[in-house]
Amino acid sequence: MKYKIALIRGDGIGPEVVNEAVGVIDVVAEKFGHQIEYVDVLLGGCATDAVGKSYPDGTAEMCKACDAVLLGAVGGPKWGPDKPAEQRPETALLAIRKDLGLYANLRPATLRPALADSSPLRRETAEKGIDLMMVRELTGGVYFGKRDRYQTEDRGTECTDLMAYSEKEIERVGRRAFELARLRRKKVSSVDKANVLETSRLWRSVMHRLAEEYPDVAYEDVLVDNCAMQIVRDPGQFDVLVTENMFGDILSDEASMVTGSIGLLPSASIGDSAPGLYEPIHGSAPDIAGQDKANPTATILSAAMMFRYSFQRPEEADAIELAVDAVLAEGWRTADIAKPGEKTVGTREMGRLIREKLAAR
Ligand code: IPM
Ligand code: MG
Repeated sequence: MKYKIALIRGDGIGPEVVNEAVGVIDVVAEKFGHQIEYVDVLLGGCATDAVGKSYPDGTAEMCKACDAVLLGAVGGPKWGPDKPAEQRPETALLAIRKDLGLYANLRPATLRPALADSSPLRRETAEKGIDLMMVRELTGGVYFGKRDRYQTEDRGTECTDLMAYSEKEIERVGRRAFELARLRRKKVSSVDKANVLETSRLWRSVMHRLAEEYPDVAYEDVLVDNCAMQIVRDPGQFDVLVTENMFGDILSDEASMVTGSIGLLPSASIGDSAPGLYEPIHGSAPDIAGQDKANPTATILSAAMMFRYSFQRPEEADAIELAVDAVLAEGWRTADIAKPGEKTVGTREMGRLIREKLAAR
């Protein structure tokens, strides 16, 4: 098959980790007989530096001409919250998600077998394993609602951020969660704050309607504050979690932390049509940029998700994931996950080891 992939290398460690993932994709293409064309797309702080805005005109169109988008990371102190919106990398990230219609963000939090000791959880909890899939609504809610800032006579400055959700927005992401659960352990936990928020009460009623359509999938409601506790108490209880944008932003960071290896976690953002966008969930780590220290594994596993979800190529995805597991099982670590005395390698060597395993299988 022929695939066209947009590469958003981005800022900080983004370019380094994308390089390693591209190397892995090339090996997969060779092995499975695919042809890959890459298109470089400028977005993030690097775009601000080059053309004055983080989301240059035509970015979405360039991506739409591709089958999938692979993104490294964007952001950095140079383009902080004090800068105008059009220069901030975060603005670009939100805009590309919206413009590509990527309403479902899949963030698996997996404790890989070789890394059970890396989890900050107690051994008896970690040993039960963690294999949850957070499905975060990505293009609605408070991150996209109307914002306002105004002066009052007696209370100083006042601001508002509006959280709005429609039935349609809730239903489409909910459906994704139920479909995914069917391919996994058949359980959906829907996270909301229905004891307080009207948007959550609508969320819950839509999810209940969907639960009836999927009688083979076990369903539960979990309040967001309780969910935050359960993720550190017993994450093994969860299979698919589905939640609105801001709750998902926060809980997915928490879930990644309990696996002890944020450098290993990929993500996929998908909509109803191509292209999907694939990115590691870690940030741009400007402090170690350009030093061959970053862990490329999360980006490499994001490429695996790309084969699985955008190209419908589970064999290629499995091959990448197995190669990663094999390298970890042999004890190879990047600095972020290495314990004293473990075999520590840099970004490029980690990428090479994974490619070697992949080619050998
Ligand atoms: C994430 C990030 C972004 C988000 C920021 C950078 C806008 O935190 O991908 O989780 O909140 O979506
Ligand atoms: Mg986040």
